[in-house]
Amino acid sequence: MFEFAINSAAPKYELYHELVRSADALTDGETDAVANMANVAALLWEYLPDVNWTGFYRMVDGELVLGPFQGKAACIRIAVGEGVCGTAAASGETQLVADVHAFPGHIACDANSASELVVPVKRKGEVIAVIDLDSPSLMRFDADDAAGIEALAEVLANRI
Ligand code: SME
Repeated sequence: MFEFAINSAAPKYELYHELVRSADALTDGETDAVANMANVAALLWEYLPDVNWTGFYRMVDGELVLGPFQGKAACIRIAVGEGVCGTAAASGETQLVADVHAFPGHIACDANSASELVVPVKRKGEVIAVIDLDSPSLMRFDADDAAGIEALAEVLANRI
C-alpha cells in the first residue's frame, strides 16, 4: 500500500510539486511501463480536483493507442494530427483547451468533457506518449496545470 501526503486543495504549484514527487517515488526502479502509467493515472485521478478522465495514449507504429487511464472507456486509436491528443503528438506541444467544443476536430470520448489538457511525453526529442486530462468544467486547466503536467512528463520519459 502507498500513502501519499497530497492535499488536493493546496495551491497548484504545491499540489503539482507533491504529485510529481509521488509519481517519481512510485515509478522509481520499476521498469514496467504499463505498471508505471497505471499508477500515475490513478494518482492523477485521486488527487486532481474536477477531472473526469486521466490517462495516457502511447505512440505505437505511428499512431496513438489508448494506454492506462481512469474514467470512462475511451476511443482506442487516434491518428497523429487528429483531435487534441493527435495535435499534441504532431506538434510536440502542450495543448491547453479551455472549451473542447471550440477545438476543431476534438474527439469526444465522454460527452461530459468540457476542457482538456494534453502534454506530450518526449524521449530524446521524440513523442512517445501523451498525458491527457479531461474536465467537465470549462477552462478547468491553466498554465500552472500545464507546467505541472510537463514536469510529470519529464519524470516519466524514461519510465514508460
Ligand atoms: N478528447 C481527446 C480524445 C481522448 S479522450 O478525451 C480520453 C482528443 O480530442 O484527442
